[in-house]
Amino acid sequence: MPELLSVSQVYKSFLISDGMFRKRQLDVLRDINVIIEEGEAIGLVGESGSGKTTLARIIMGMIPADSGEVLFDGLDLTALSKAGRRERRRDMAIVYQNPFVSLNPRLSVLDLVAEPIRAHERMSRAALKQRVTGLLADVGLEESYLNRRIGAMSGGQAQRVAIARALALKPKLIVLDEPTSALDVSVQAQVLNLLANLRATHGYTYLLITHNLDVVRHMADRVLVMSQGEIVEHGATDAILDSPQHPYTQALVAATPKSPSS
Ligand SMILES: Nc1ncnc2c1ncn2[C@@H]1O[C@H](COP(=O)(O)OP(=O)(O)OP(=O)(O)O)[C@@H](O)[C@H]1O
Ligand SMILES: [Mg+2]
Repeated sequence: MPELLSVSQVYKSFLISDGMFRKRQLDVLRDINVIIEEGEAIGLVGESGSGKTTLARIIMGMIPADSGEVLFDGLDLTALSKAGRRERRRDMAIVYQNPFVSLNPRLSVLDLVAEPIRAHERMSRAALKQRVTGLLADVGLEESYLNRRIGAMSGGQAQRVAIARALALKPKLIVLDEPTSALDVSVQAQVLNLLANLRATHGYTYLLITHNLDVVRHMADRVLVMSQGEIVEHGATDAILDSPQHPYTQALVAATPKSPSS
């Protein structure tokens, strides 16, 4: 499969205030190298604060790296014109942990899902509504949800809206940042199965960030393990989970109770 994303030697630090007047440099990512091929699902695991979301934001072009290179479809986002960047960004989408935080509660489901389409394409209101209805069907929501607000929906339903919105422009890469960890355990598996089915049907490429090794086992072809800003281990999912080499991965595997489901 062709290479979709290539991250090489990426470093990132933040200046944080440390006391009233002092500032300190916090090194968040060190020498990150990642390749994602078209159609792959990559799991990114690591403890809280290890830099997973920061890496995702750099990949999405939302924040710059301090150094290193990020190529998406062979192109360096930072080297493109504003219009070029905008055009590339439509090929990437992100689903966040909590739909009630990431989605505007004042908008209807129709407007939430239509927003990215409107930003990039011109079409009649009727055509737009039809497109959104189709996207809702893809995520298992009926047409009657079009005029609802997410505040009146369950977490699982609201996350389906976030997924429909992410799929709206048929992105080449979908970043899923803890997409089920804010949901009730009972609906987590449903949303994961939906994501797996969408990938099987449409061939989407996923970068799936999670703390949960069961989720990785269920969803990912390959795994990257991050610890303190570095990728300490990577490889095929079964190989990593069945015989972890790095002490951090070993601890993570040991801390995960064996459960055949979820
Ligand atoms: N804009 C920022 N300014 C300063 N520090 C930041 C900023 N964004 C992230 N950090 C810090 O960078 C480190 C990595 O954060 P990041 O959100 O990438 O971790 P994470 O692996 O996604 O964690 P979690 O699993 O809790 O989501 C943390 O110490 C965080 O506090
Ligand atoms: Mg995070």
